[in-house]
Amino acid sequence: MSLSNTYKMDRPVGETRLDRNGQNVIGRALPRFEGPLKVSGTAKYAYEQLVGRNVAYGYLVTAPVGSAKIRRIDPLAALSMKGVLHVVVDDRAARASADPSDSKPSAIKGTVSYHGQPVCMVVAESYEIARDAARLVEVEYETTEGSYDLFAVKDEAYDPGEQVMPSTVRKGDVDRAFAAAEAQFEATYTTPSQNSSAMEPHASIASWNGDQLTVYGSYQLVSTNVGQLAAALGIAKSNVRIVSPYVGGGFGSKLGIAPESVFAALGAKAVGRPVKVALTRSQVYQTTVRRPDTIQRIRIGTTKAGKITAIAHDTISGNLPEQNVFEPAGISTVFLYAGENRQITHRKSDVNIVLGASMRAPGEAVGMLALENAMDEMAEKLGLDPIEFRKANEPEVDPQDGLPFSSRKLVECMDEGAKRFGWADRPETPMSRREGEWLIGIGMAAASRKNLLQQSSARVTLHPDGTALVETDMTDIGTGTYTILQQIAAEMLGLPVEKVAVKLGDSALPQAAGSGGSWGANSSGSSVFAACEGVVAEIAKRLGEKPDDVTLKDGTVIAGNRQRLVGEIVGTKPIVVEGTFKPGRQFKETHQASYGAHFCEVAVNAVTGETRVRRLLTVAATGRILNEKTATSQCYGGQIFGIGGALHEELVVDTRTGLLVNHDLAEYHVPVNADVPQLEVVLLPDRDLAASPLAAKGIGELALSGVGAAVTNAIYNATGVRVRDYPMTLDKVL
Ligand code: MOS
Repeated sequence: MSLSNTYKMDRPVGETRLDRNGQNVIGRALPRFEGPLKVSGTAKYAYEQLVGRNVAYGYLVTAPVGSAKIRRIDPLAALSMKGVLHVVVDDRAARASADPSDSKPSAIKGTVSYHGQPVCMVVAESYEIARDAARLVEVEYETTEGSYDLFAVKDEAYDPGEQVMPSTVRKGDVDRAFAAAEAQFEATYTTPSQNSSAMEPHASIASWNGDQLTVYGSYQLVSTNVGQLAAALGIAKSNVRIVSPYVGGGFGSKLGIAPESVFAALGAKAVGRPVKVALTRSQVYQTTVRRPDTIQRIRIGTTKAGKITAIAHDTISGNLPEQNVFEPAGISTVFLYAGENRQITHRKSDVNIVLGASMRAPGEAVGMLALENAMDEMAEKLGLDPIEFRKANEPEVDPQDGLPFSSRKLVECMDEGAKRFGWADRPETPMSRREGEWLIGIGMAAASRKNLLQQSSARVTLHPDGTALVETDMTDIGTGTYTILQQIAAEMLGLPVEKVAVKLGDSALPQAAGSGGSWGANSSGSSVFAACEGVVAEIAKRLGEKPDDVTLKDGTVIAGNRQRLVGEIVGTKPIVVEGTFKPGRQFKETHQASYGAHFCEVAVNAVTGETRVRRLLTVAATGRILNEKTATSQCYGGQIFGIGGALHEELVVDTRTGLLVNHDLAEYHVPVNADVPQLEVVLLPDRDLAASPLAAKGIGELALSGVGAAVTNAIYNATGVRVRDYPMTLDKVL
């Protein structure tokens, strides 16, 4: 029989078992325990499941036009090829959406709305036959007029008009305050479309047992994805199971289902065998999702002394005509700096380019490129040190709604970073430090990322032999979830860490929050906390004690002056508790975000314009650190992502046809080792008692937010060139 325990977060948490059990497991820099499986090739990723089980292979046929009506699909030639089993032509699949907020495929029939859109899928005995036959499918298109250039709208007025998104924030009269300000700064910034470029391409294997569908795939949000698949196929959620134990990176691109999953399910149904489909790298770029491109106008008005009186961030991002997802680029501007008059708007513009959706730090990653670039420029205009300018505008409460911050250590992060980086010795005027051909500059930027938290459940089983098992449909996308959940359970139950096993990524297990929005560790960890509290309560009950009077440590239970092996109290049947964590009032009573500061030194070649990042330091304060190693690794990832956003990453659209020209890792540039210097990450000791029972906050996306602006500001300091059009390729820096 299983017990349950729900933890609703209605008030700040006090000292918990995590603080007082003294297992010394929580927070420790433990390596990911599944790491050896991954590096030895024995961890099974999506495409490696069901090997040798009469599996057939699918290959997608995609549209070579950006906007069209489909006149005819003729699969006959493909079907006549030896080894071809079936061609899936089905509107449900062709229009399956990878946007997690959109549970229904669009109803538009027989149209192409972006270059690379899947049209149909060939199923064959081998991958090679399917790929070959895909070229024989005859599709007749009648091209229609498409819109392929977001930046064509750049010169339009910023009046958000009818397309304004519901995220608009306004306070006071920003236009009047800006016009009346003693000092003003206004500029427009552009950021390109980007692709998450996860190492593991999107892949699904679909297998039917009667009307029960099992899909082995690569997903971030298993329970959401079950709902999307069921909706796309028109079947009940209870008939769909997703198995996703290992995920080779997602960065947002696997928050929703991708088209290959629905095609695989339809193909498997048609041929009566499991069907596996992996997207090629080129298809990952062209048929899944992208981070929308943006145009952002920033206005900052201040007093002579540098107090912000007006701050506005008006943004436009592109997406498919039928989609309303936009890049929330102004999200940090809402609360990062003080100012009585404020306006943050998001407008979406129609483009026929692959679905725009969330990519790592949606909003902040590109929004802070603009905001923190502008803050640097305004500081210079005022003759203020950039850190002093930010400190002068540190709000005491959320400047928009007046809520207290749950915890906010932005100033501490900037101070600590300045000290460690040698900020005081930076060249104050641009172009004042030179080493031969190289111009040297230093810049900084703030980091902030709204803290999100979701309901999440997990089951914890304590066995008579003193081992425990944690089970949840939570995913580990390479972030360390397995190990963190193991550490939380070990600390709570007083067990050596190796006595705790963790099972993840199967929708048959209790529903978790999934991996997204930097809420994963905190939300799923809080559910494990809740389940373990339930286990301890049961142990206390059996001993006739109050839970607070019971200590679990070193595999024993200590109550009063007695200490016994935990297994003796468990008895013959395991104690099983399903724990659920629910965000509560606490999230309406405080404004929650993670904070940090980035410091960057660049060398820019005065002859070629080439930028080399020499040093990069990130100081972050994000509540309790659950595992110092995985948290630090998340920050390294964010820093590298930030360098990419600043200097390299850009999906180039052929504005005549809508083709994404650079659809592979040779042409879509992400930072490689040579682009990344020795990185430094400092995690400030912190507890956010209002954020979760773990007193932790999100960290992964924080570390990316603002990095690129620190690079921009360092380039300006080195060269005197202020780039506002990302990425800062050498032609723009010269
Ligand atoms: Mo993140 S963009 O929510 O994976």
